[in-house]
Amino acid sequence: MDFQITSAAASTLTSDRLVILHSKDTALDASAADLDQASQGALSARIAAKDAKSGAGSSTVLFGLTGVAAERVILVGAGNSTDSLMDANKTVKAVAAAVAGQGGQAAVDLTTVATDARPEAWWAEQLVLAIHAEQYRYTLTKPGSEAPEALESLTWIGSDVSNALTVADAKGAGTSYAKELGNLPPNICTPNYLAEQAQALSDEADFTCKVYDEAELEAMGAGAFYSVSKGSVEPGKIIIMEYKGAGDARPHMIVGKGITFDTGGISLKPGAKMDEMKYDMCGAASILGTMKTLAMLKPAINVVAIITSAENMPAGNASKPGDVVTSLSGITVEILNTDAEGRLVLCDALTLGIRDYQPETCVDVATLTGACMAALGKVNSGLFTEDDALATELLTAGQTSGDRVWRLPLEDDYQPLLDSNFADMANIGGPLAGATTAACFLSRFTEDTRWAHVDIAGPAWGGDGTSKGSTGRPVPLLTTYLLNKIQ
Ligand code: BES
Ligand code: MN
Ligand code: ZN
Repeated sequence: MDFQITSAAASTLTSDRLVILHSKDTALDASAADLDQASQGALSARIAAKDAKSGAGSSTVLFGLTGVAAERVILVGAGNSTDSLMDANKTVKAVAAAVAGQGGQAAVDLTTVATDARPEAWWAEQLVLAIHAEQYRYTLTKPGSEAPEALESLTWIGSDVSNALTVADAKGAGTSYAKELGNLPPNICTPNYLAEQAQALSDEADFTCKVYDEAELEAMGAGAFYSVSKGSVEPGKIIIMEYKGAGDARPHMIVGKGITFDTGGISLKPGAKMDEMKYDMCGAASILGTMKTLAMLKPAINVVAIITSAENMPAGNASKPGDVVTSLSGITVEILNTDAEGRLVLCDALTLGIRDYQPETCVDVATLTGACMAALGKVNSGLFTEDDALATELLTAGQTSGDRVWRLPLEDDYQPLLDSNFADMANIGGPLAGATTAACFLSRFTEDTRWAHVDIAGPAWGGDGTSKGSTGRPVPLLTTYLLNKIQ
């Protein structure tokens, strides 16, 4: 998408689509007033007749106005966008729907709703992300289906927000890529497929990429990872990509759970909606999406990205409840439930990454627990860390990007729930505080590294039936968090 900034009068802009906002009881903004005057009151007449409604997200198209160069003017209701985040999000979505997916050029004036809390740059970023969302469509295994035609050029009427627009374009591309990986069927998107994607992206972007295969990991002593991957004919992988934009600085590490299908293993899941467990690799997808964004922006920062990927299957050689395995760190784990597999593949990836890269910070993202989804629904991801400064960085990145996180406890008092008679620890902590005990499990593999865990079980996908799909979260969170490191 090309971007232009202009302060020219709205009536003179020769666009396919020109979007302006209006709110109840608020005077027309400068662009709207200019268009109204040029068209001899066409806008105010529509508003007065209540053809154009002011509720957030309502949208009215006016064609071929005399005195106006643009072919169409779209009046979008802004509701109470200055006070209400929900109204602001609805407004952005309606503006995006009005301009996206039809090729051509569009111009927008959203300046009237900019505030200190949500400045023009925020609106610019949210709009570009929403345009990407409107234009994404899953087509690969639906013969004859086509993605909408991408908007070619967007003109921003207002201040110079070109940096926000460019950054958001890269975040949007990364988010759509993560969505696509999440949506792919699990017979296509296997650990091998994720490794091929990482390799292809790394070749294109000049990242180094290292893929550990299952046999190597077993030989290395990654017994927790191997206990999950060994039950599937699809070989598991740990994939490490390295982006260097800041010389010898210590890297920031991001780690994603990539279970390409989670049946639960011998602790088999119930059948209803089991197809949704193809989304159990959305953490890994968001790592690839984040790296795509970094490839486009080339920021001055070092990032190590790790994907820990396997398929969790019941099989004659699958792990059984009661098995004890030795993790790469040497800690022994009693597997009481083979469905708590995410922490098993993550713990060895954390040990490997921390040992080999000594990162400055480490954030893992995982569709880890149903308990986290029960607590927070699909709005917020769960954030677990003992590091208050890191928590603040992630909470802030969540607020500004709209990809929100909510902090949940990770306190030593919960650790004894993982006690085992037969190993250093069990892989489940009983029925209480399931999201926290999962985080407690991971915390034992982070040594002294500044580390946070983000449980995306709720936000990673949504919808039902034909609206079911991956959201691409937490790409906006991770990219915003990482880019904030250089500002
Ligand atoms: N991938 C699931 C978590 C999950 C379930 C995410 C539903 C989103 C929707 C994870 O591997 C899992 O099965 N967790 C168990 C842990 C339990 C056995 C301690 C869970 O949440 O039930
Ligand atoms: Mn599971
Ligand atoms: Zn899982």
